[in-house]
Amino acid sequence: MSDSPELTRRPEWTALEDHRRDALPQPDLRDLFAADPGRAERYVVHVGDLRIDYSKHLVTDETLALLQELAAATDVFGLRDAMFRGERINTTENRAVLHTALRAPRDAVVEVDGENVVPRVHAVLDKMTAFADRVRSGEWTGHTGKRIRNVVNIGIGGSDLGPAMAYEALRPFTDRSMTFRFVSNVDGCDLHEAVRDLDPAETLFIVASKTFTTIETITNATSARSWLLSGLGGDDAAVAKHFVALSTNAEKVAAFGIDTDNMFEFWDWVGGRYSYDSAIGLSLMIAIGPDRFREMLDGFRIVDEHFRNAPAEANAPLIMGLLGIWYGNFHDAQSHAVLPYSHYLSKFTAYLQQLDMESNGKSVDRQGRPVRWQTGPVVWGTPGTNGQHAYYQLIHQGTKLIPADLIGFARPVAELSDELKAQHDLLMANLFAQGQALAFGKTAEEVRAEGVPEEQVPHRTFKGNHPNTTILATELTPSVLGQLVALYEHKVFVQGAVWNIDSFDQWGVELGKVLAKRVEPALTEGADVPGLDPSTAALVAAYRNLREV
Ligand code: F6P
Repeated sequence: MSDSPELTRRPEWTALEDHRRDALPQPDLRDLFAADPGRAERYVVHVGDLRIDYSKHLVTDETLALLQELAAATDVFGLRDAMFRGERINTTENRAVLHTALRAPRDAVVEVDGENVVPRVHAVLDKMTAFADRVRSGEWTGHTGKRIRNVVNIGIGGSDLGPAMAYEALRPFTDRSMTFRFVSNVDGCDLHEAVRDLDPAETLFIVASKTFTTIETITNATSARSWLLSGLGGDDAAVAKHFVALSTNAEKVAAFGIDTDNMFEFWDWVGGRYSYDSAIGLSLMIAIGPDRFREMLDGFRIVDEHFRNAPAEANAPLIMGLLGIWYGNFHDAQSHAVLPYSHYLSKFTAYLQQLDMESNGKSVDRQGRPVRWQTGPVVWGTPGTNGQHAYYQLIHQGTKLIPADLIGFARPVAELSDELKAQHDLLMANLFAQGQALAFGKTAEEVRAEGVPEEQVPHRTFKGNHPNTTILATELTPSVLGQLVALYEHKVFVQGAVWNIDSFDQWGVELGKVLAKRVEPALTEGADVPGLDPSTAALVAAYRNLREV
């Protein structure tokens, strides 16, 4: 198979290479701002409640225009429209990509193979609403008649990260009288810690799995059922009151022993990493209530509509996607940091890792030819203030270019005490200070002017020019969370479209799954597994020996 030729030979691509070499060989943000102070206002885009400032990027009007030309030449908006129309743009799996239909209004029409899927989406939302209300009100009781006070979501990947992230993000909106836990790891410690202090009679398990074949989830769900039954006297009938399923696979759900009346459905046109606004969000809906959940869907929709209708030069996901391409493909940046200045967004970057890296971690194009350009970046980060005392050193003074998104909110969370609310200005001062320090650094002259001894000057100089985006919103509400997630979903889409890769499959996770199944009998039974490489065979032998000691 020959290499995929198109992208890097396009005149729009080579124009960007020329521009990088000739116009911005050593871009300096101090100079760029001095030459064009208006960029502070001009390079800001508003979408919904989000104010996105991209003025601290290594770009000029010309760079942005050239990037827009690349987007036009690669027909990003054409693919976008095909996605919204329900075409099968996930070509390797021959599936439509319609997470946007999950937040479409009741009267919208989105067709897949001639069928309007919106009524089905709302039927499931209504079923979720009725169930969530019953659990929240205490009407849905466990097998012994006790009220449900604990909800344990069992899932992995997209069936865990989304609801777990959003539960954390929206904690102030959750029912604090209930306990919510999220179990994903096949390491038995995860389930053990999640249930060890819970009363089975008050515990509801939500088994979340699109395929209902994922070994981690089915293993944990099986163990959870044993835990439940042993705590409730072994009556199998208890399962019906303590287990519900979120899946596309009714057959497997029934085979597991969960009544399909207690199954909340979604469809193959919802990718796992794009699914927490589907039935996969049931645990979140129970936590925050159906009304808040719908507010979150409204937030997603605001950004969907923006992505669909805003002109290219004011289209936030397009701009963010193109800036990522500018660094990854024309500055050789390898990673992208997402740094929320909000404790409640502590799981946001982990969520984005799957969204971005499972979508765009690809090395062949849509036609199956090896690509000759970089695709998705390594996405990483933790809440900003903590990061400042850990890895920011490397961003500021290391040798790598790491574009970053700083995310913050104007208002602290309502339920904080006045004293804790007062800390919010300090939190945000850190965000603004970091954005400034990353972009503009500190020159040797400035360091000298402080009387620093000459031999120390190089150590205390910050070269700056670390590009960063500041995303500011009033408050972290359900709607704003939906807006943020949709913003990144569509940013990832834009990049995949330009790179001509299928952002919606994930074949790269299959090999490990297959090999784990093959290796397991060697561990459990000492079975001779044909085809084990010598290193792995030695590791398996060492493991078995150590286990016996
Ligand atoms: O990691 C691969 C993957 O297929 C993800 O895409 C998905 O989110 C996760 O496994 C869980 O899959 P399922 O929901 O089918 O259990």
